[in-house]
Amino acid sequence: MVKLLDTTLRDAQQSLIAARLRTDQILPILEDMDSVGLFAMEVWGGATFDVCMRFLDEDPWDRLKAIRTKVRNTKLSALFRGQNLLAYRHYPDDIVERFVKKSVENGIDIVRVFDALNDIRNLKTAVKAAKGAGAEVQCGIVYTISPVHTLEYYSRLGEELASLEPDYLCVKDMSGILTPYVAFQLVTALKRIGLPIDLHSHCTAGFAPMTYLKAVEAGADILDCAISSMSGATSQPPIESLYYALRENYPLELNLHALQRVAEYFWEIRKGYERFDYAKKERPVDLGVIIHQIPGGMLSNLIYQLEQQRALHRLEDVLKEVPRVREDLGWPPLVTPTSQIIGAQAVLNVLVGRYRLIPKEVKDYIRGLYGRPPAPISKEVLELTKEEVITVRPADLLPPLWEKIRNEVPRDLVEKEEDYLSYALLPNVALEFMQRRKKRFNQKAKTI
Ligand code: CO
Repeated sequence: MVKLLDTTLRDAQQSLIAARLRTDQILPILEDMDSVGLFAMEVWGGATFDVCMRFLDEDPWDRLKAIRTKVRNTKLSALFRGQNLLAYRHYPDDIVERFVKKSVENGIDIVRVFDALNDIRNLKTAVKAAKGAGAEVQCGIVYTISPVHTLEYYSRLGEELASLEPDYLCVKDMSGILTPYVAFQLVTALKRIGLPIDLHSHCTAGFAPMTYLKAVEAGADILDCAISSMSGATSQPPIESLYYALRENYPLELNLHALQRVAEYFWEIRKGYERFDYAKKERPVDLGVIIHQIPGGMLSNLIYQLEQQRALHRLEDVLKEVPRVREDLGWPPLVTPTSQIIGAQAVLNVLVGRYRLIPKEVKDYIRGLYGRPPAPISKEVLELTKEEVITVRPADLLPPLWEKIRNEVPRDLVEKEEDYLSYALLPNVALEFMQRRKKRFNQKAKTI
């Protein structure tokens, strides 16, 4: 038995059209999506929260509530970056607890959490809060390739994660670098833990559908995929193709008429986003991520940084420096925020000299403020920085924030408790959004 988790409304649209789908474009098709017979739909989290307020002038909480009203049969899932939730730094426990609880109250059934460093201490609070609120929990295993990320490493990590008592484990291959035969071994090893396994990959390097097939053969229970018209390239494999490919061996029942309507619908919507569309700008298969192990988003960041310094001709040197910095810093996976941390140091090492300049983020990382690196940090780098390394969980050093936020946000801008949480995560973005919202409300009141 294989189940399909549809990412169309979160990861797929985030990967292909910069998360620009508006709620009024999502709502009309939800009843059809709900009738497909999917295991779950990922509809919230990742970058969509930020983009909603920043670029679409929409309240992400209202979106979630509106989706929940229309989706009655299918579970809804959200993705959180552990103690970072939906932003870019660690938040104190009181914010994490309230944020996760509110997201479940507003309609999330499955909370998926991961930590960029696979430090399970950064998942504990979110997992506990989600379980306490009655949601199911998926603990994410961030997949990367390095000398320390062996099958044994992942098996041990899976065991550790199982101690948090999640309902599922999720192999999160955010760059699409998990190859089919490695997936077979990995899923086989993780299945021994006894939890259902969800596999999340991207088609970026072209082998995700093959990887899914081998994972299913090894016993993977859930596959993350997207409607065909929003699949492929940096998105997930297509639902329809998986259905036809798998059903000859695995029972899968989907409403094909509904699937067809959903596919048509999003194809038309997508045409309106050509200026954002990945497929209009980039090649359909990008092997860079396999050759130099640098995910697409990070590569464009590096190019941008080098252009700013008029040093684009040093790109090759930087690409060679990235794995060296990764090794020095204990082989972190390259995902937000570690991809930026490693990238910035690699650029400086090439342009100014190795570790002559060390940015604050790198020092914080070395101090352990992001969590424990997968392997020890090199002695040379530790001696250079002379940073005192913390041994506690990073969030243990953060004082509670909720009461402070309550006093900080102007009362006349607040409509509901969730507004404080939006502000806690993204103060400027949320404040500006709430100001525009109030202005709109006042204008409306005037015209009535
Ligand atoms: Co993804």
